[in-house]
Amino acid sequence: MEKKWWHDKVAYQIYPKSFMDSNGDGIGDLQGVISKLDYLKELGVDIVWLSPIYQSPLADEGYDISDYYAIDQRFGSMQDMEELIAEAKKRGITILMDLVVNHCSDEHEWFKKACEDPDGKYGKFFYLRDKDPEGKLPTNWRSYFGGPCWEQLPGTGKLYLHVFHKKQPDLNWENPEVRKEVYKNIRWWMEKGIGGFRIDAIINIKKPEVFRDYPADRDDGLCSIINMLKDARGIGEFLGEMRDKAFKPYDAFTAGEVFNEKEGELPLFIGENGYFSTMFDFSVEMYEREGRGWFDKRPVDIDAFRDCMFSAHKKIGDIGFYSTIIENHDEPRGASRLLNDEIRNESAKKALATVYFLRRGLPFIYQGQEIGMENKKIRSVEELDDISSIDAYKVAIDAGLTEEEALKTLSSHSRDNARTPMQWSDEMHAGFTTGEPWLRENPNYAAINVKEQQGREDSVLSHYKKLIALRKDPAYKETIVYGDFVPCENCGGSLIAYLRKGVDQTILVAGNFTPDEKTVELPLTADGRRYAGGKVLLDNGREASVEDGSVRLDGFGAAAILLEELKKS
Ligand code: GLC
Ligand code: CA
Repeated sequence: MEKKWWHDKVAYQIYPKSFMDSNGDGIGDLQGVISKLDYLKELGVDIVWLSPIYQSPLADEGYDISDYYAIDQRFGSMQDMEELIAEAKKRGITILMDLVVNHCSDEHEWFKKACEDPDGKYGKFFYLRDKDPEGKLPTNWRSYFGGPCWEQLPGTGKLYLHVFHKKQPDLNWENPEVRKEVYKNIRWWMEKGIGGFRIDAIINIKKPEVFRDYPADRDDGLCSIINMLKDARGIGEFLGEMRDKAFKPYDAFTAGEVFNEKEGELPLFIGENGYFSTMFDFSVEMYEREGRGWFDKRPVDIDAFRDCMFSAHKKIGDIGFYSTIIENHDEPRGASRLLNDEIRNESAKKALATVYFLRRGLPFIYQGQEIGMENKKIRSVEELDDISSIDAYKVAIDAGLTEEEALKTLSSHSRDNARTPMQWSDEMHAGFTTGEPWLRENPNYAAINVKEQQGREDSVLSHYKKLIALRKDPAYKETIVYGDFVPCENCGGSLIAYLRKGVDQTILVAGNFTPDEKTVELPLTADGRRYAGGKVLLDNGREASVEDGSVRLDGFGAAAILLEELKKS
């Protein structure tokens, strides 16, 4: 595999609205981010992905952009953005913007012009269809956020397509003018000095040639949008063009949000000369995929997590580099999702961090993950901000769940879980703002916060620092970054173990997610011998050791161990 500058880095996702508020209006902002750059530097972060901060009505919290060349006033100014890029650079940190170009906002100028003149230039920027006199919609596709994908184009007899919310009209990528605008914008931002982009919802840009109905899969008579994605062919033409015209000239780093690539397409996406540098490993999300709604999601436990991880590595092999995550702004908190109530303690959080962080791939840490932030209890539907959670609640109630059951579903799946204010300290509002936070903080901030963990050697935060330091340690870096990923397939329930095999060293990574001591037999060496012992490079405060071909882990123990091969006799 050709080595890239970003392979040995560590990335961090910031959700700016909830990261740090600098002026007391309750909304996180760019000056807030700047004030925490030293924190990120000390943690060991090299790449920061900023969720959208462009001008936006914030209907989908910034994933609905009304001006791609402006910063939303609530987050700051273009000057603040330039300052952030420069200050980050001083600290060796690269900034990634979020590229949201499957759709724009219905408050974008293009859309307004399309409403004024649907047959003119800007009408062709969107997917418009004439309204049927009988009221039948062009297709029965259900938008990701619920309800039909079609909405009346204000002031006209036409409908427009939105695969997300109605305030997010889909851009028509078949139109070369649209693509030209997108590439122009990418280049403009690259010129500003950012390192690249995280690329939002990108698989949706290609629609099938023929728009048709699919069998309804719920009582609403609609069908999942996934059906149309399966019928869409030829996305590669768009993505290859974007790579060549916009990313390549700047050697931009790009991380794709790709859920539904087709069988065998992985090399095209992130192989050599792929469309993107990397894409996220969403195998856990694919595993739990909702059936009739969020309430119907398949629960993920540690064993499912391990199986997802192992199969993802099998799939990717040497093709490219995944970006690895346990959470992001669209998912519940990893510690809550993957560790059930009985095992959600600090040791287990550190064990989880260990086994995900030392995989092969580019690790992304989502803000607050590094202190083990957790889901919050959603007490009523009124306190929800996230539009998709509001829909999921309705779907659950319509399917016959009680209010209590529906709220329980949201407490475990709502996107708001990840969007509560970052917990900096035990001061009022978790030290996030001196005003009223836009979203209620998680009441557990008195116990879980940065300040408390900074002062403590055995905290989750300190553990993340150690993990990052180990990944960057010249003695082991080559193995941790590029070594093969060899799963220990038969490690048993609630255990995760794998080897990272480098050119001349092998590192065992293992985590025990039970309260009991466990012994796991390791695979044999290439020439059939047992591993004799090993040197612990990192542990989570619990004991771990290797002896005579097996690893022994304390309850909730986790470690990275440099294995010693038996001397040849
Ligand atoms: C992506 C984003 C999500 C957003 C959606 C629509 O999935 O991560 O937050 O709601 O795209 O832009
Ligand atoms: Ca603010």
